[in-house]
Amino acid sequence: MSLSTDRDDDGVAFGFRRVAESEHGGLVGRVFDSVAGRYDLMNDLMSGGLHRLWKSTLVARIAPRPGMRLVDVAGGTGDIAAAFLARGGGEAIVCDVNEKMLQAGLDRRLDRGILEPLPQICGDAQALPVRDSCADVCTIAFGLRNVARRPAALAEMRRVLVPGGHFLCLEFSPAVLPLLRPFYDAWSFHALPRLGGLIAGDSDAYRYLAESIRAFPGPDQLAAEIGEAGFGNVTHLSLSGGIVRIHSAWRVD
Ligand SMILES: C[S@@+](CC[C@H](N)C(=O)[O-])C[C@H]1O[C@@H](n2cnc3c(N)ncnc32)[C@H](O)[C@@H]1O
Repeated sequence: MSLSTDRDDDGVAFGFRRVAESEHGGLVGRVFDSVAGRYDLMNDLMSGGLHRLWKSTLVARIAPRPGMRLVDVAGGTGDIAAAFLARGGGEAIVCDVNEKMLQAGLDRRLDRGILEPLPQICGDAQALPVRDSCADVCTIAFGLRNVARRPAALAEMRRVLVPGGHFLCLEFSPAVLPLLRPFYDAWSFHALPRLGGLIAGDSDAYRYLAESIRAFPGPDQLAAEIGEAGFGNVTHLSLSGGIVRIHSAWRVD
């Protein structure tokens, strides 16, 4: 296996399993088809609301300003794009491969009485349906872990940025503080699938979540992969005892 990909002769990682790359998108698609209607509620329950703080920290690091253009990849129900616009960003588009997740985002806005939809586009992070150099900022929050070919997705996110553009990745990390690990393992491998079964009707989807976090590269390896994709000034910030990291990098040329 090379440093920069989860692919090998046995296929790609889907949680703790190896699956054929051709199967991966369908399996991930089934996870998010199944949980889309309860996705936002589950995020609040499983993180105790912390995902809001993590996302808010990400958007604060963008420092949105008028005229700034954001592409939020694997944007799901649109939290990052909505927060970016609410904090003064110029334009945002949510790109996600899953139509049910995008629809859940539209429904949530309507339920809140917001009639103006967020601009959305359905597409794969590994082949973004977005033109070159059209964004000042490109984000991916809790999305990269679900992509079979990270190098392809990273290259695409670099492609859509203008030179000088900012890339930020918010993602769960396997590098949790040792002190937290027993509680974190108990929560993610036992409580979470039960909660997922009760609330979203799909315990397997939340077992996949726990497994995919453990199968994801540690912060330094991910930083190296981001560098290999051609980004510069790669840094990362640990949040909540290492449960989550924000990687930040720039398209330097
Ligand atoms: C855990 S959700 C994160 C959603 C949102 N960014 C958030 O932070 O709440 C992961 C999202 O990644 C999307 N996704 C998975 N694989 C993808 C791919 N190859 N291309 C684009 N989106 C993908 C899923 O459909 C899902 O909406």
